[in-house]
Amino acid sequence: MRDEPDKLSRRLLALDAAVLAISSDLSLSETLQRIVTAAAELVDARYGALGVPNTSGEMLVEFVTTGLTPEEEARIGARPRGHGILGVILHEGRSLRLADLRRHPRSVGFPPHHPPMKSFLGVPIRYKGKLLGNLYLTDKRSAPEFTEDDQYIIELLAAHAGIAIENARLYEKVQQLRVLEERQRIGMDLHDGVIQSIYAVGLNLELVNSLLNDGEIQEARDRVHRAIDALNATIRDIRAYILDLRPRLFDGNNLVSGLERLLTEFKANTLMNVEFSAEPSADKALSIEERRVLFHIAQEALSNTARHSRASQVEVKLLEHPDSIELSLRDNGRGFQLDAIEQRVGHGLRNMHERILAVGGKCSVYSEAGQGTEVVARVPRLARTNT
Ligand SMILES: Nc1ncnc2c1ncn2[C@@H]1O[C@H](COP(=O)(O)OP(=O)(O)O)[C@@H](O)[C@H]1O
Ligand SMILES: [Mg+2]
Repeated sequence: MRDEPDKLSRRLLALDAAVLAISSDLSLSETLQRIVTAAAELVDARYGALGVPNTSGEMLVEFVTTGLTPEEEARIGARPRGHGILGVILHEGRSLRLADLRRHPRSVGFPPHHPPMKSFLGVPIRYKGKLLGNLYLTDKRSAPEFTEDDQYIIELLAAHAGIAIENARLYEKVQQLRVLEERQRIGMDLHDGVIQSIYAVGLNLELVNSLLNDGEIQEARDRVHRAIDALNATIRDIRAYILDLRPRLFDGNNLVSGLERLLTEFKANTLMNVEFSAEPSADKALSIEERRVLFHIAQEALSNTARHSRASQVEVKLLEHPDSIELSLRDNGRGFQLDAIEQRVGHGLRNMHERILAVGGKCSVYSEAGQGTEVVARVPRLARTNT
């Protein structure tokens, strides 16, 4: 049975929307869930499931469903492993459409407490020939069985789902790599920074020992004082470092109060002098995404000031210009040579630029040895009402 032409084009539009919904940057589990939900909706199936086989493609290791309440799922108990009908698609790798799945020769029946299911449509999801999962749809609501066009639509969806699943997997791998990179960086930073300083303190205290043996009391005292100062400085460094690592959440609702919180924490950790001024109307002109980006830039810039600048003072301003909103952060520290840091491992400055580009803005860093550092981030004011 084929659909009417205009009904088919409506379904293709729905398919298009479904493809968009599964293609955004999502975690793997969210992607799987969206695929199965979209599939069931597209063909009016009461139940839907997406089974993901293990790497050798023999057994289902994941099984995401739609249409069952959590209680119903709990009552069914163990997830199917890919025997019976589900195994047919798993092993043969092709679509299967049945008016009554219980009548198929490979049917092994349902476990107790499983809702009865009759009409069935199963379609494999592949990417570059590799089987990534299978879509199972059962119990078409508006008809006794699934149609040829249903199968066609789900096969089209499956082609996109393959790309979406592969994308989500790659994205998760990249995240894992980031964590590894970050760990390596933390290890290196600790080794080059904190451990070196403590080692130097240790050497100094050894000297104190021999000074005391020689009766040079005053010199020994001086060195103990210097050791205490050095340890305090190390504690400050560690605090600043942790400040940089700790992810701070910001909901994007009010940049001014978000910055106030951030600066209070910054002040407590660095003991630097902080001046903050904000035009309240500037905050109102920003979208949530723009606030998030500016907050992130403030975080990066402040952590750089805490870690690298040795400044005593920071000035933060949020300003409103006729055609842009500007956030500037300036410290009075030792500054640095901008062109000398191109090869560095840090991602902070690069992240700032990339983030603001995404909202159409621009970020400039001004710094010179001995002259402090200023980070200026600007987002254009769009023609929209200030609500
Ligand atoms: N406020 C600052 N004062 C002094 N040096 C800075 C400042 N901000 C950045 N730098 C220098 O620029 C380098 C790169 O910064 P960044 O990209 O954030 O990487 P990271 O902070 O991980 O080193 C820093 O290592 C530091 O040498
Ligand atoms: Mg940094």
